[in-house]
Amino acid sequence: MGRGGDVSVPGMGRSDVTSWVPEGIDLERPSAARLYDYLLGGAHNFAHDRELAERFIKAQPNAREIARHNRSFLRRSVLFMVERGVRQFLDLGSGIPTVGNVHEIAQAADPRAKVVYVDYEEVAYAHSTLMLADNPLATIVQADLTRPDDILDAPQTRELLDFDHPIGLLMAGVFHFVPPEKDPARLVARYRDAIGAGSYLAFSQFTRDLMPTEMDRIVEVMKSSRDPMYPRSHAEITALFAGFDLVEPGIVPTAKWRPDPGFDDGGDPDRAGIYAGVGRKH
Ligand SMILES: C[S@@+](CC[C@H](N)C(=O)[O-])C[C@H]1O[C@@H](n2cnc3c(N)ncnc32)[C@H](O)[C@@H]1O
Repeated sequence: MGRGGDVSVPGMGRSDVTSWVPEGIDLERPSAARLYDYLLGGAHNFAHDRELAERFIKAQPNAREIARHNRSFLRRSVLFMVERGVRQFLDLGSGIPTVGNVHEIAQAADPRAKVVYVDYEEVAYAHSTLMLADNPLATIVQADLTRPDDILDAPQTRELLDFDHPIGLLMAGVFHFVPPEKDPARLVARYRDAIGAGSYLAFSQFTRDLMPTEMDRIVEVMKSSRDPMYPRSHAEITALFAGFDLVEPGIVPTAKWRPDPGFDDGGDPDRAGIYAGVGRKH
């Protein structure tokens, strides 16, 4: 397949399309970033990503709803932090820009809000770079979150974020890609230790607790991608919040975390399939 050969972006000319399709990207190997983009109705994905997504949907017919619930949790958690005075965010595993990006949410509340996005995926990095070209208060670092020093010591991070003031640490829908051997607890602790008291952590990840059969199928499907998945139990996720005070309602399915007033959960919020929680560093 040619570079950018099967993509279309409404309103974008061909040269614009190719500017977010990075040189040398392996289009044959689907990525979680592009799968998620597809589930959310985005156009930054390729044939192999869409094939993976269709298998994902077969394994879990609620896949699109699960993705939307996760994205919605991210938005609510950012607004929650903004309301408590947080004006700077470190968004790990930020994904391909889509509806409701963190800098849009935070800067709509306060135009001075700052955001450092982090993702290791090429399309996420390229498209974020394009989107943020005229935004001096938001940037993206292309890095692997399992190498925290690459992120915390990156010049962009140091320039934009003031570690003497509270930071909103966002780990939404990303730690299910971190294998046990990378020691997730050590990783979260490394980021936690870099931020000050009064900072917040928003965290969401897939679990077997809510939908074991479907989750096992999803794990199988994702083995053929660049991003195999590792679901975690409520107890395992709770342990990752060491050093943080969980805010109400604790760790719950995404749809149950401080839903918007009048929100209709479709009858079974547990089907959101992903646990979510927010903690305040003490
Ligand atoms: C499902 S998306 C979540 C996007 C966004 N955080 C949200 O919740 O809407 C997960 C993203 O994490 C990225 N990712 C997975 N493992 C990563 C790692 N070790 N380092 C950096 N990014 C990673 C993927 O490339 C993908 O873009």
